[in-house]
Amino acid sequence: MRKKFVAGNWKMHGSLAVNLGLLHALREGAADLPAQVAVCVPYPYLAQARSVLNGSAVAWGAQDVSEHAQGAYTGEVSGAMLQDFGCRYAIVGHSERRSFYGDTDVVVAAKYEAAQAVGLTPILCIGETLAEREQGVTAQVVTRQLEAVLDRCGVASLAQAVVAYEPVWAIGTGKTATPAQAQEVHALIRARVARNSAAVADGLQILYGGSVKPGNAKELFSRPDIDGGLIGGAALVASDFLAICAAG
Ligand code: G3P
Repeated sequence: MRKKFVAGNWKMHGSLAVNLGLLHALREGAADLPAQVAVCVPYPYLAQARSVLNGSAVAWGAQDVSEHAQGAYTGEVSGAMLQDFGCRYAIVGHSERRSFYGDTDVVVAAKYEAAQAVGLTPILCIGETLAEREQGVTAQVVTRQLEAVLDRCGVASLAQAVVAYEPVWAIGTGKTATPAQAQEVHALIRARVARNSAAVADGLQILYGGSVKPGNAKELFSRPDIDGGLIGGAALVASDFLAICAAG
């Protein structure tokens, strides 16, 4: 039986003052929830997340990681540096990284590998754009994105990873995939992993991301292949995020 997992992706939001209240509210509010809970915060706030969340039920992580271990890569942050700040997770392949910063499937797979190399759990984001959905190539797109990682790191690596299906057209738009639409793609992702290993597929947490709110979380999370959510906007409001966590 897979545990539900709800992770917040703060994106480029926050300040030391604003985060403080949010982190303390999560620390208290998530104490007795059955779901696993994490927040992925901007790099400068990792120390703050560690200081407030240490010893709580809420894990923390980053929103990206360098594919390089160290060296002359100005502006990059390595997995080992994230480890230094107690991170458990690193998001890789978020559609905003893919579309604004040129993270190709190959780069995403390299980042996934770099995260695992230092013991971080990558949260691998995959998902189609609106144009791709309208062209009827959703299955091909998510399969291609997943196979880039399978080819590089092997199916066993997914035993130490999380996949997030985030249809790009549902991110920050208020347009959520219906539970049936999301379930269909989640089932397809799990079936593709099962072709290589039924056991890994069975244990793999596959999160849905894209305009998850307190009002739609329960219905989404009740589908058999939806194991929780990766939450953007609603993760910035403690009561909303905790309500979504409680739906898990
Ligand atoms: O990674 C989370 C995400 O992209 C969804 O964002 O604001 O639609 O919940 P949002």
